[in-house]
Amino acid sequence: MFKRLVEILAVSAACVAAFPAAAQEPLKIGMVLEMSGGFADFGMQMMNGARAYMKVHGDTVAGRKVQLIVKDTTGVPDVAKRVAQELVTNDKVDFLAGFGLTPSALAVASLATEAKKPMIVMNAATSIITTRSPYIARVSFTLPQVTAPLATWALRNGITRAYTLVADYGPGIDAETQFKKTFTASGGQIVGDVRTPMRNPEFAPFLQRIKDARPQAVFVFLPAGEQAVGFMKGFAERELDKAGIKLIATGDVTEDGVIEAMGDAPLGVVTTQHYSVAHDSAQNRIFLKAYAEVSGSSQRANFMAVGAWDGMAAIYEVARRLNGAIDGDKAMEILKGMKIDSPRGPVTIDPATRDPIETIYVRRVERLKDGKLYNVEFDQFTNVKDPTR
Ligand code: PHB
Repeated sequence: MFKRLVEILAVSAACVAAFPAAAQEPLKIGMVLEMSGGFADFGMQMMNGARAYMKVHGDTVAGRKVQLIVKDTTGVPDVAKRVAQELVTNDKVDFLAGFGLTPSALAVASLATEAKKPMIVMNAATSIITTRSPYIARVSFTLPQVTAPLATWALRNGITRAYTLVADYGPGIDAETQFKKTFTASGGQIVGDVRTPMRNPEFAPFLQRIKDARPQAVFVFLPAGEQAVGFMKGFAERELDKAGIKLIATGDVTEDGVIEAMGDAPLGVVTTQHYSVAHDSAQNRIFLKAYAEVSGSSQRANFMAVGAWDGMAAIYEVARRLNGAIDGDKAMEILKGMKIDSPRGPVTIDPATRDPIETIYVRRVERLKDGKLYNVEFDQFTNVKDPTR
């Protein structure tokens, strides 16, 4: 009996030696997300995107059970910082991930550096974010990256006089700056600009001002969701379309998750972005099926859900390459240059900037045979980098 026990202990000791202690603990991913407040949809999309990835690819990687620990930022940067600190100190997470809003990502950057925690930005899209810590990699997009192609497309399609309207914070200022730069560099003229408050904006007076200025087009960036719905309704109500003013925008404005709430207003609107649910690929079909299953709701996935799916793909790949023993510096070396086979198409994390290089699609809103609105891709710019870096 005793001999048998010694044998068992010997076998267990051998197992422990072969698999370091860390390899047996859960792989903890601290998700810093907007789960309540005006941007709560962001958190829901990203959490479900991550869960969809785990449903398809399993909840174990490199011998470690994957655990998502979700914390609510409520959309407030100071809260994001506090919950991220808790994730690092109390939960001892291996990765920080999520970040729908730029201010939350910026608030956590220094913590990622101090703790040497890889921080995977799954949405937040102001250019500078990845410059704020060498431990940040972004799998989503940047505003200049999607805006420059739209300005080029507009000029190629006869638009030469434009007005800009953007949300007055990081991504909006990035979008406005890049639109003006690309548009005027090739002969376009900006006839006016406006920045709208980030919280509870009232669009009516701005829309009237734009209507009075009679541009050929208005270029818009607003954060996805409620604001975009409010803007689109105002645009139709004030009849800017009937006044001959075209709406061109980043894909945030006609985002798949809420586009159905916009009625007919967005029909024909041209946008640029990295993801549409209408993208025709095998990966996208797998993603959308899994998303519908885990979300249990009829609300469609959007680009934030895809960002979370791709962020999980990056984390799983790092875990595999490190045999489950996550080290911040080694993780970052693996992330630099990583290729991801995303539902949107191929993505490479630029080794120089840790930002994605990807295809930016030009899309038009159409009502398809199922009676629903979609961003239908009809042109594309390949291998697009953030032009500001
Ligand atoms: C951001 O805060 O970086 C952000 C938020 C919503 C978007 C895009 C960017 O749709």
